[in-house]
Amino acid sequence: MAAQIEAVQANIVTLKVDAIVNAANTSLLGGGGVDGAIHRAAGPALLAECRTLNGCKTGHAKITRGYQLPAKHVIHTVGPVWQGGRAGEPALLASCYQQSLALATKHGVKTIAFPAISCGVYGYPLEQAVAIAVRACRAVARDDYFQKIVFACFDANMLALYQAELAQC
Ligand code: AR6
Repeated sequence: MAAQIEAVQANIVTLKVDAIVNAANTSLLGGGGVDGAIHRAAGPALLAECRTLNGCKTGHAKITRGYQLPAKHVIHTVGPVWQGGRAGEPALLASCYQQSLALATKHGVKTIAFPAISCGVYGYPLEQAVAIAVRACRAVARDDYFQKIVFACFDANMLALYQAELAQC
């Protein structure tokens, strides 16, 4: 059966899924936005594990445990900083979703939630990012592996954008 893909308005740290995805930076040592929220909710053991990972390149992903989160795992990925769109940002953002999903399949993660990677501090235009996110997730949702892929939207505007994109065939 194909995976269910849905958008919900929620703080991603509250979601009971096998893995939540973190919009991290290359240090993997924490930051603001969703990264800060995930580290606060998971507790200091998450940072301790992140320190062992030697960072992460833009467009790549690494996995840790979820510690005090309801999610069993955190998949840390590093989105591109928006520089106008001609510095390879679309391919790098697509790669974040693809690599996170590939890592999920390796670790038995069947339900996964994504924030809008790069759409905060990193300045990626929301509508373009939403189209890339939905395309990348739809590509794997056709297979039998994933049960549920969730887009965690921070506000109603973002939720409306995801819902509009998901409504398009
Ligand atoms: N749940 C769901 N979405 C959230 C949450 C949350 N708790 N908090 C924020 N968002 P950002 P980036 C949304 O800035 O642009 C960090 O400092 C937010 O509204 O968190 O990839 C890292 O350490 C936005 O739409 O990530 C990096 O240095 C989206 O999550 C840098 O920011 C992503 O915003 C990464 O920047």
